[in-house]
Amino acid sequence: MAHHQPEDLFSVNARGLKPSAIEAIHKLLEQPGMRSLAGAWPDPLVFQTDEIAAIIAELLDKQGDQALQYGSTRGQPVLRQALADMASTQLGFECSPQQILVTSGSAQGLDLACRLFIDPGDVVLVGLPSYFGATATIASHGGINVGIPLDEQGIRTDLMAEKILTLQKEGKRLKAAYVIPNFQNPSGVTMSARRRTELIDLAERFQFMIFEDDPYGELRFEGGHLAPLATLDTSGRVIHFHSTSKTFSPGMRVAWVAAQAPVIDRMERLKQASDISTNSLSQLVLLELIRSGRLQGGIERNRAHYRGKRDLMLGLMDQHFPKEVHWTRPSGGFFTFVTLPQDMNSDDLLIDALEQSIAYVSGPSFFVDGSGQNSFRLSFSQASVEDIEAAIPCLAGLIKKRL
Ligand SMILES: Cc1ncc(COP(=O)(O)O)c(C=O)c1O
Repeated sequence: MAHHQPEDLFSVNARGLKPSAIEAIHKLLEQPGMRSLAGAWPDPLVFQTDEIAAIIAELLDKQGDQALQYGSTRGQPVLRQALADMASTQLGFECSPQQILVTSGSAQGLDLACRLFIDPGDVVLVGLPSYFGATATIASHGGINVGIPLDEQGIRTDLMAEKILTLQKEGKRLKAAYVIPNFQNPSGVTMSARRRTELIDLAERFQFMIFEDDPYGELRFEGGHLAPLATLDTSGRVIHFHSTSKTFSPGMRVAWVAAQAPVIDRMERLKQASDISTNSLSQLVLLELIRSGRLQGGIERNRAHYRGKRDLMLGLMDQHFPKEVHWTRPSGGFFTFVTLPQDMNSDDLLIDALEQSIAYVSGPSFFVDGSGQNSFRLSFSQASVEDIEAAIPCLAGLIKKRL
C-alpha cells in the first residue's frame, strides 16, 4: 500500500491555500523594538481593563453558571435584544433579535456568509485595494475575487455594471460584492451616500448579495454618520457585519451579523457545525458594557484618542513626506494609504524600513489583481505616540533616498 504523508491527504481546497498576510504581520509585531505601523490592532492604552476585570468578577459571582456554560448558537438572547436596540438607535436600521447572529469576530461572520453563498468559481466583487483577511476568506471557499478600483468616494460603482456584463459574457456567476463602507481597510476612504445607493441599485439589477463589513463605522472623528447599506436595502440583499474588536477588544471575539431571518437561520446552522456558540463570558461582558453605557463611553474616548493619533501622523507626513508622495486623509478608523511615485516599489522600501525597525503593510497584499506595488498602508491605531514621532520622519528620509 502506498504510504501517504498527511499533506498528501489534504483536501483540494486546502492545497490551494496561500500563506497568510496576517501571520506575516504577527511575526513582525513580535520582533523586539519594532515600531509597527502595520497591524489593524487597537491601542492597548484604550482597553477598559480594570472595568472588565470588575465585570468578570461580578459575573462569575452572580451568573457563573451561565457565563461558563455553552450558550445558544445564535447568541445570548438578551445580548441579541440589546444589539438590535443599538442597531436601531445608533446605526439607524431596524432589526429584530431574530435577525442577529452573534459570531466569534466578524471574521467568522464573513466565513459563514461565504459558506452560505459561495460555490467554487463564484465571483465576489471587492475593492482595489481591499482587506486581505476577507479576500483570503472568499478565496478559501473557492470564490473568485474580482477587483473594482476605489477612489476618494469609495468603490467605483460607475465601473461595476460594465464589469458585471463582461463577467456574465464569460459565463461567470456573480454572487456578492464585499465592501467596507466606513474608513475602509486599507484606504481609510468612506463610501459616499450616492455610491451606497448606486451599489444597492446594482445589487437589485444584477441580483447579487452585498457583504457590508463595518468594524470601524463607530470610530468617526468628524462629519456626519452616513446611512449603512443595510438601511437602504429593501429586498434583503445586504448582510451587515459589525464587530466590537476595534471599539472594545479583539481578544474577546464578539461580533454580530444582521440579515433577514432566513439567512440568519442558515448561518446559525453553519455556525453550529463550526463552533457551537460564541464565548458566553465575552458575550455577557459585552452585554454589561452596553447596559451600563460603558461601551458607548469607551467608544467616545476611543474617537478622541485615535483622532489625536491620526492628526499626529498626518501632520508629520505633511511636514516630512516629499511632494511626489500622496496619501488619504481618513475621517475615522485606523488607516491612511500611501501612494509612492509610479516607479518606486513599496516592497523594496519595506526592506529599508525594516532595517530601521519600522514596519508597514506593503500594497500588493491588498490588491487581488497583484497591482499596488507603489503603495502601502500605515496604521496609526496601535503604535505609540513616540513610535509615530520617530517612524514618520525616518520613513520620509528613506523615501527621499529612493527618489
Ligand atoms: C475590514 C475588517 N473586517 C474584519 C476584520 C476582522 O475583525 P474581527 O476581529 O471582528 O474578526 C478586520 C480586522 O482587521 C477588518 O479590518
